[in-house]
Amino acid sequence: MRGRDMEDILSKKVLRLEESPTFALDSRANDIDAELKKQGDFVVRFGIGQPDFNTPDNIKEAAKQAIDDNKTRYTPATGVKELKQAIVNKFKRDNGLEYGTENILAGIGAKQVLDTIIRAFVNPGDGVLVLKPYWVSYTQQVLLSDGIPLEVDFKDNLKPDTGHLKKVISDFKNPIKLIIVNSPNNPAGTVYAEEEMGEIAKICLENGIHIIADEVYEKFIYDSARHYSIAGFSSDLKDITITVNAVSKTYAMTGWRVGYCAAHKDIIVHMSKIQGQSPSNPCSIAQWASVEALEGSQKSVGIMRKEYEMRRDYAYERLCRIDGMKCVLPRGAFYLFPDVSGFYRGGIRNSNDFSERLLEQAKVAVVPGSAFGDDRYIRISYAAAIDKIEEGMDRIEKFCKAI
Ligand SMILES: Cc1ncc(COP(=O)(O)O)c(C=O)c1O
Repeated sequence: MRGRDMEDILSKKVLRLEESPTFALDSRANDIDAELKKQGDFVVRFGIGQPDFNTPDNIKEAAKQAIDDNKTRYTPATGVKELKQAIVNKFKRDNGLEYGTENILAGIGAKQVLDTIIRAFVNPGDGVLVLKPYWVSYTQQVLLSDGIPLEVDFKDNLKPDTGHLKKVISDFKNPIKLIIVNSPNNPAGTVYAEEEMGEIAKICLENGIHIIADEVYEKFIYDSARHYSIAGFSSDLKDITITVNAVSKTYAMTGWRVGYCAAHKDIIVHMSKIQGQSPSNPCSIAQWASVEALEGSQKSVGIMRKEYEMRRDYAYERLCRIDGMKCVLPRGAFYLFPDVSGFYRGGIRNSNDFSERLLEQAKVAVVPGSAFGDDRYIRISYAAAIDKIEEGMDRIEKFCKAI
């Protein structure tokens, strides 16, 4: 803009907001890929966390039907009643949680639902506990609400260090409103055991901290791991927990943008005000598709889960064979989170350098751990076809050997 700096024009808040590193990386990988394609090569895409499967046909048919039935107008801010009922049924069926439709809000993907929760709770200067390694948007959403993200360390098994959690709580002098608990975890793929979840729950109850339970990967769990919904532990915990989920990952519907949450109805009432004033409602057609996703056949979910598990086994085994690579076996989601700090030499100083070089030299896109709160790691998404995973692992192995 002529003669004026953006610093004078735009808000401090937006100027300090970081671009989503996964989206930024994906767009760079796209550009490089387009160039490489001309020479018959390609980038192996382990960056963005989205299923490579197509949305199941029954769900697509429901969307087409919704268009033909002219279900194309504004809907209630929190979603059509059929979708909210489907969500109520889902929580009962899958998580043993009893809710009514007054406890439900559907939004534009889990991301917008999370943002709405944070906006509903946080005053300027309030703390929000974020357990490392964390999904990239949590800290930025807290900052957008003028809150303070309070990062909590993790142990060697990539699970929360509850000793540090207690210390962070006692050291912070302003109110702490929320903690975000994400199991199965992005980026680490960890799945918290019942007692680990219970320990976090106890600390929250003792300190009057509300819990956001981000369960978007709940269906992708491997081996003997089990998913625990923190809201199901007691009625006190149910009152202070907002359980977030989405159709995005479970049904390969990332582009449809439908997420949802269940919470005490007094919380939902206030969140709906934000919803009504800001996005109005999630896309009506996507809502009807989501009714089918939640109520229709669940066969595709089982098929995807099995496929991810097979890919995880392969990718994990390949990573472990690379000298100097350290990796904890993930039990859920579709990510590996290896410690690559053993390769920080020869001009590679951190996870950004490692990821940059890997993209430039080996044509493999991964996300640097710095985006998730720890610079020793990189995130590899194995939501990619097995032949691409094989090729990607070959390239990573060769790259690491050459450092
Ligand atoms: C942990 C976690 N929560 C929430 C989201 C957002 O999901 P949605 O696509 O439904 O907005 C993601 C997406 O990557 C995620 O990994």
